[in-house]
Amino acid sequence: MTLPKQVRLVEVGPRDGLQNEPGNIIPTDIKIDLINALSDSGLRHIEAASFVSPKWIPQMADGSAVMSGIKRHPDAIYAALTPNLKGLEKALESQCDEVAVFTAASEAFTQKNINCSIAESLERFTPLIEKAKANNIPVRGYVSTVLGCPYAGEINPSQVTSLCREMIEMGCYEISLGDTIGVGTPLKAKQLLEAVTKEVPIQQLAAHFHDTYGQALANIYAVLEEGISVIDTSIAGLGGCPYAQGASGNVATEDVLYMLNGLGIDTGVQLDELIKVSHWISQQLQRSNGSKVALALTPKSSI
Ligand code: HMG
Ligand code: MG
Repeated sequence: MTLPKQVRLVEVGPRDGLQNEPGNIIPTDIKIDLINALSDSGLRHIEAASFVSPKWIPQMADGSAVMSGIKRHPDAIYAALTPNLKGLEKALESQCDEVAVFTAASEAFTQKNINCSIAESLERFTPLIEKAKANNIPVRGYVSTVLGCPYAGEINPSQVTSLCREMIEMGCYEISLGDTIGVGTPLKAKQLLEAVTKEVPIQQLAAHFHDTYGQALANIYAVLEEGISVIDTSIAGLGGCPYAQGASGNVATEDVLYMLNGLGIDTGVQLDELIKVSHWISQQLQRSNGSKVALALTPKSSI
């Protein structure tokens, strides 16, 4: 049980965070400033946009403008979520460095989220992954609801395992395991990894925790002990999931960084800078969304 010396943080705030601002479209220039500030703080893997149906997720409709407006750090990866070929084409036009496909371990959640079955979602990924590879674009995979589903309840780890194996065989270089509604606890997270790593090497897995019950940091520590070295995080703990009512924000990047710094794990990210970004985006959201968001967001000023 040794902790990794280095961790790659995948910042999902501009996508997973801002996609979930209810009834509130964040101006494109705020998104661009946010992404630039995140890369200035040292983050080198940023999910910057989502090329999904604007009817489903209007908050992400300006993906192309965001991608063309950002100042690209030469060492940073700017990724986008793509559910289908149409999304991939937009991501290619926007010169994304990476795309991500997403499905779930629960049939009910997959239907609500992407309007198809799990099997159909994999069928959609096949041409997408082929075309991405032909364009030298790496494809990341997400499996949602790995530790519980808002509609189906408990999820069998064997369902997660076979889905991860299939997506790796299809050509995803890494699978992010999503505790979409934040119901996981450290023991369950470890047990899930024990099941999945029987079929997929730990080096190809990432952890994506939401913090509904305040378990995210404990879960992250548990999976670090199992050998996970890629963690999805969201600045200021922004986020949730539009198709998982009650899912609270993703684990906050600055909280994870504070813990990793304390453990002597290198990320290359500057905590002081990140805290400033957290304050700034919280203020922007308070301004554009009124008191509801002001209550939901707690800037990490006390660190
Ligand atoms: P659909 O309605 O079943 O499919 O949507 P469709 O192919 O019939 O398309 C309907 C309309 O959308 C058409 O437009 C298409 O052109 C358009 P119309 O003819 O009606 O004018 N369309 C698109 N437009 C732009 N970009 C596209 C695109 N595709 C179709 N790529 C679809 C199926 C998957 C598109 C839809 O269900 C969708 O966009 N869902 C979005 C789901 C989503 O973004 N959820 C949140 C992200 S997942 C998440 O947050 C979890 C994660 O963080 C991990 C975790 O926490 O677990 C990743
Ligand atoms: Mg998420």
